[in-house]
Formats: sequence, structure tokens, C-alpha cells
Amino acid sequence: MSELLNDVAAHQAVFVGGKGGVGKTSVASSIALARAQPGSRVLVVSTDPAHNLGHLWEQAVGDDVTPLWSGGDGPGLVDGVEIDPARTVGRHLAAVAETMTRLLPDRLHAAAREHLESARDAPGTHEAAVLERVAETLETGLDRYDLVVFDTAPSGHTLHLLAMPDRMTGWTEKLLANRDRSERFGVAYGALGGTKDTSDRDAELRRMLLRRQARFSLMRDTLQDSSRTGFLLVTVAEPMPIAESREVAAQLATLGIPLIGVVANRLSPASLLPARAAREEALLADLDLGARLTRIPLIDELVGLPALERIAGALA
Ligand SMILES: Nc1ncnc2c1ncn2[C@@H]1O[C@H](COP(=O)(O)OP(=O)(O)OP(=O)(O)O)[C@@H](O)[C@H]1O
Ligand SMILES: [Mg+2]
Repeated sequence: MSELLNDVAAHQAVFVGGKGGVGKTSVASSIALARAQPGSRVLVVSTDPAHNLGHLWEQAVGDDVTPLWSGGDGPGLVDGVEIDPARTVGRHLAAVAETMTRLLPDRLHAAAREHLESARDAPGTHEAAVLERVAETLETGLDRYDLVVFDTAPSGHTLHLLAMPDRMTGWTEKLLANRDRSERFGVAYGALGGTKDTSDRDAELRRMLLRRQARFSLMRDTLQDSSRTGFLLVTVAEPMPIAESREVAAQLATLGIPLIGVVANRLSPASLLPARAAREEALLADLDLGARLTRIPLIDELVGLPALERIAGALA
């Protein structure tokens, strides 16, 4: 087994990221296959709104777990999920609407519904929903699989997403602080002869916020725990993607997310394109990101299991 696969096997969750089109989905899927072949149970989760997991595996993949591979003799398998933020937002808004209608007086229902509808397309709503699903698949995935591989959206988007758990917990803490205050008001209101409804409502909202906060803190802790999680950076040996890889590595360090490896994908064959291959090697020789570099050659298969097997073979 290659050193990269060893490094991956030492973790429970791996985020595969990099610039658009460098081979994130191919590498994430091939790693999943290479780990499943000797018997691991692997879940591949695409967080990229422009999913191409299904395209690569040549089958429909959706927001529910879809079996992608189970071809070995042993218990090894690959399952896939393409996170659908719209579905998560829909489900979340329906749950909030249900809670609101239960807790709010009738005369406020119409305003509450209007407020929820405007939240559906508000900036950040979809991102928060993706993050919520990432947190959810991490929670359940770590229980049910030996390895969870996240096939992420191009770098900028993913780093923004990975920085969110901190912002989300900060945000919940603020809301909770407000709730603390309003709970005290609730008690005072009750003492003045108000109904006990307000404090019931506050207690329920508080419980909801606390559950969310617990989920995001767990996710943040998992992301920063180098014994469980790591980031695998995919690049091609060209100046722009290499420059972006340096930036991503620096940002990961700031976020406290461990970089477990770098994959140089689609390398030119020295026998056919010697000058190009030499230029690529010169770029790679300069690229010291403090993590092991793994090379994957350009292959001629493009999609489907044959392509994944070729890349998995190059990794093994
Ligand atoms: N080693 C390789 N040799 C030849 N072609 C490759 C190799 N790796 C990936 N490709 C091809 O490069 C293209 C992009 O690969 P892939 O979809 O895995 O990239 P991505 O980083 O996930 O892209 P996106 O940012 O659009 O999600 C695909 O057509 C894929 O078949
Ligand atoms: Mg992709």
C-alpha cells in the first residue's frame, strides 16, 4: 500500500480539496475504492453544489446514501452522497415553521411564514445548510463507516465553509446570551401576572440552539483533531494551481486543520512529453508544503470504474 493510502487509513475523515478541475472527485473516489478493495467501508460525500460524483461513477447519486461499489470478496464497500442544500433548507424551514406555529399566537403565524420564506433564498442559507449536512454526515458517517471522504467544492468555497463552524458557534453563543436575558424577562413577566407561555417558548428555543451548538462544536473539534481528520490537497503541476495550493495550505494552517498530503495529478509522461514533464517536476521540486507529495500520472481512461481503478492502481 502506498504511503498516501497509509496516511489516509490512519484517519476517519479526509477532506479532498483543490482548485476547480484538478481532479478532486477522481482522487476522492479512487482513494475510496483503493481503501474499499481490501475491505474498508467507505462513504464518499460531495459537498460541491456542482456535483460530479454521479457522473464519474456513471450512476445517479443523490442526497440519500447510494451504493457505488461492493465488488470485493470481503466486507469492503463504497457508498456515495451528493449533498443537496435546497432539500436541507426545505426540511429545516418546515421544522422551524412547525415549531413556530406551535409556539406563536395565531395572529403572528402569517408574518412568521413570510419571514421563513424570505430566509429560503437569503445569502448564506444554502451554505449553512451544506455545513449542517457536513456536520450530520460526519456524525453518522464516523459511526457507520471506516472512512468518510469529502469531495469538496473548489478551494475558496470550501475554506469558507470549513471556517464556518467557528462563526456558527460564535453566532449561537450570541443568541444564547440574548435568550438568557429574555428568559429573565420571561420570569419577571410571569411575576407581573403574564402567562407562563413565554418562558416555555424560551426554554424550547434555547434547547434547539444548544443542540445546534453542540453539533457545530463537535464538527469543529473533529476538523481540528489531526488523529481523526485531515485535508488532502489535489493540484496539477501548473503555475496557477500550484500558487493556489500554497494559499490553501496557509489558510488551512490558520484554521488549525491538518494537511495530511498533497497529490500532483495528471502528470505528463516523461517518455512522450519530456520537456513538459521536466517543467512539471521543477514546479513540484519547489512546492514544499510540509506534507508528503504523491504523484498520479495522466491516464487515458476518463470516467467509470476503469478510470477509478487505474488511479487507485497508481495509488496502491
Ligand atoms: N489522472 C488523470 N488523468 C487523466 N484525466 C484525469 C485524471 N484525473 C482527472 N482527470 C480528468 O480531469 C477532469 C476533472 O477531474 P475531476 O472531475 O475529478 O476534477 P474536480 O477537481 O473534481 O473538478 P471540479 O472542480 O469541476 O469538481 C475529468 O474529466 C477527469 O476525468
Ligand atoms: Mg469535482
